[in-house]
Amino acid sequence: MREPAEGTSTDDGRKPEAIGSMNIGVIGATGVVGHEMLTILDERGVDSDRVHCIASSRSAGLTLPYGKDHLTVGTLEDTVFEDLDVALFAAGPDTARTWAGQAVSMGCVVIDNSSAFRDDPDIPLVIPEINGNLLDGFKSPGIVASPNCSTTIAMMAVAPIHRLAGIRSMSVTTYQSVSGAGAEAMEELEQQIRQHAAGEPITNRVLPSRALLNVFNHESSIDADGFNEEERKIRFESRRILDAPEIAISATCVRVGVPRAHAMAIELVLEKGVKVEEVRELLDGSDGIRVVDDRELKRFPEPRHAAGQDDIEIGRLRLHPDRADGTGLLLFAAGDQLRKGAALNTIQILERLQNA
Ligand SMILES: NC(=O)c1ccc[n+]([C@@H]2O[C@H](COP(=O)([O-])OP(=O)(O)OC[C@H]3O[C@@H](n4cnc5c(N)ncnc54)[C@H](OP(=O)(O)O)[C@@H]3O)[C@@H](O)[C@H]2O)c1
Repeated sequence: MREPAEGTSTDDGRKPEAIGSMNIGVIGATGVVGHEMLTILDERGVDSDRVHCIASSRSAGLTLPYGKDHLTVGTLEDTVFEDLDVALFAAGPDTARTWAGQAVSMGCVVIDNSSAFRDDPDIPLVIPEINGNLLDGFKSPGIVASPNCSTTIAMMAVAPIHRLAGIRSMSVTTYQSVSGAGAEAMEELEQQIRQHAAGEPITNRVLPSRALLNVFNHESSIDADGFNEEERKIRFESRRILDAPEIAISATCVRVGVPRAHAMAIELVLEKGVKVEEVRELLDGSDGIRVVDDRELKRFPEPRHAAGQDDIEIGRLRLHPDRADGTGLLLFAAGDQLRKGAALNTIQILERLQNA
């Protein structure tokens, strides 16, 4: 077994290294989140010989562009972890459950994008801007979970407000893009656009309803109370990230025929009354947030502007008209769920571990 990745331990007194000196595996490299991870690693200047692309046996031997190079995709098997310091998982919960323990036992730090470990109290669920301090005592090697994409976007918008005025309840309605359901769903939307342009019948196989020119219930499983899994994740994970199990949270999650970046309307009931201007200034000064709230020009958050951006856009800030004490706050947010909702948050976790 190799030594744990240098700089990922807090108790050995060693100096942190930049992520560019680590051997990083992207597990699920052929997927939409994996693709974005490769893009960000390249943006961070990580050399191609430090990056290992891994997917299922279906993709073995494929090549993926990385900067000016091409990387060959390897199959997920025991031996891949021998060469790695870090394994960034973007291959779904089953793969994470099967392989993350093996990666850790071979000395890897694992950061997982799936739901596999988000409800494990021993595994930190982290958005670095909000609860990055949970990584201060991280014992390497080990696992860190990155939250659900809608949860991350919502939390980026509301965590500063929670610190300012305390959230009593939160109600969220999402408008989630098709790439949130993975590469095959994206291909299906592109095919539907071609079918529409050609005047052909529009077909769907991957998602339960057609995405093009439509809005429909999120495709995840529905429980006995009628909530889909995405709605349950937002409720559970938000409370965990804010460390506030007492907050009442409900969500309604739908897909919209948008390729990339989720939007959401959020209604908060606060402990303390606030003024819109004070919230706008607070959010304007918060990391990872861009306030887009121009009532005169009608410029507000939109997925097409948020797509490809690191920042979460927040706007439509209003006080609830029937709460004269300023304890009701309404807002609208849009964020790239492939970047801050997944790949960017994962790499920020890795960078935060370097500084822990
Ligand atoms: N899409 C989003 O916006 C988003 C946001 C946050 C979190 N997530 C989570 O991130 C994970 C990946 O999502 P995605 O949207 O990128 O999915 P995706 O586009 O469908 O990609 C899935 C990836 O996992 C790989 N994979 C599947 N089964 C595997 C196996 N048995 N062994 C090795 N690799 C395997 C696939 O490889 P092959 O190509 O070889 O099949 C592919 O690279 C999921 O857990 C998802 O919930 C997604």
